[in-house]
Amino acid sequence: MKADYNESIPNNVNLGDDRRLLRALERWQPAYIQWWKDMGPVNSNDIEVYLRTAVSVDTDGWAHFDHVKMPDYRWGIFLAEPGPDRKISFGAHKGEPVWNEIPGEYRSELRRLIVTQGDTEPASVEQQRELGRTAPSLYDLRNLYQVNVEEGRHLWAMVYLLHAYFGRDGREEADEMLERHAGDPDRPRILKAFNEQTNDWLSFFMFTYFQDRDGKFQLAALAESGFDPLSRTCRFMLTEEAHHMFVGETGVMRILQRTCELMRQHDTTDVRPFGGINLETVQKWINFHYSICLDLFGSERSTNAANYFSMGLKGRYQETKIDDDHKLDGEQMDIPKVTEDGIDSETISTLTAMNLKLRQDYTADSQRGLNRFNKMIAAHDIDVTLTLPDEKFNRTIGIYSGIEATPEGELISAEEWAKRRAAWLPTDEDKAYVNSLMVPVTEPGKMAGWIAPPKRGIHGRPIDYEYVLFH
Ligand SMILES: [Fe+2]
Ligand SMILES: [Fe+2]
Repeated sequence: MKADYNESIPNNVNLGDDRRLLRALERWQPAYIQWWKDMGPVNSNDIEVYLRTAVSVDTDGWAHFDHVKMPDYRWGIFLAEPGPDRKISFGAHKGEPVWNEIPGEYRSELRRLIVTQGDTEPASVEQQRELGRTAPSLYDLRNLYQVNVEEGRHLWAMVYLLHAYFGRDGREEADEMLERHAGDPDRPRILKAFNEQTNDWLSFFMFTYFQDRDGKFQLAALAESGFDPLSRTCRFMLTEEAHHMFVGETGVMRILQRTCELMRQHDTTDVRPFGGINLETVQKWINFHYSICLDLFGSERSTNAANYFSMGLKGRYQETKIDDDHKLDGEQMDIPKVTEDGIDSETISTLTAMNLKLRQDYTADSQRGLNRFNKMIAAHDIDVTLTLPDEKFNRTIGIYSGIEATPEGELISAEEWAKRRAAWLPTDEDKAYVNSLMVPVTEPGKMAGWIAPPKRGIHGRPIDYEYVLFH
């Protein structure tokens, strides 16, 4: 399905046939561009970046690569092809044809799901806006901007659904997407992890490893939705999300590679004197990002999550591959429970544990990348294993929000937590050190000293290609 680039808003949803909707989106467009210029990447309005732009949603050849002036990027609306006779695959409506209009009785739940997802997209652009000042190479700078423009497009995707299916309150929600801002004390973004600063590149790579992976799991669960336009837009967003996680995983891997090289070369675990990032520091960043991302999945026990599932709005990860009845009526399971004497368990309805299920799949997926990191460390003959902290560590939402635990999961008092947290989470001193490394490298092919070069360039271009033109 080719995209229509003749319209003011590129799309594959026949926007040209619906002049009312087109006009409504055209009214939102200038506010979006203004937001991009004010709150998007700093100092990026005049440079040209080697970006990919979606031209169709076919698996092969959906993207076109060229140097683009960033505010001229063609943000558009792309939905994956409708599946032939797609049926709802879970919940009370299992087996019924998917909906192409909003089922009236589920309107407010659907709106809430779309708004919560949509809000994270511009949030991440805002969180990352300062990073362009200190990119470790042109290759990395280009990747940052690619992620940023695609998060902008993800906002477009959700705003399209709000405009096309929710009428006036949808339009109001779309306006508010540009009015809340990451870290704004008065009008913050909806989810806590999307209000944290991402001002150094170690944080950026962790963000694209952990937060974007949360995005993958949320989108995958929404891609199962019985509301077909939501499913189709999430399916296409997932293809872009994969690239964001690639940026994260390869970024962390390249930092680790450089660290390991310095450790071997100088026979030390402390590579700071040589301009590297210690493995211990990387572990602290993992502890922080992973634990705040677990909070993004919400409470382990949630009536909302049960409703979303029963209503057929949000499924489980790879719902159709799960071997059960996809309804779960009357099913029960045990989940942990915090008591005065420690951790016990309680039996709850499986339906209310949907957030936990998605989070467990996220943890397994996060661990797979860590295994690859550890293999690389071991290949340098270094006896260090990076780990995901225990689910009880540093939590502010759900079962464990009222207790403190070590990264190994041992319960400790609040006093002990206060005493020991500097060993587990980034300290001001750690942040100051990492920030001291953040100096821009803008010569094509050159890398900052704390990160190894990538294995290959982008879209067949060499590593020393001019991915960003400053003029
Ligand atoms: Fe996104
Ligand atoms: Fe993303």
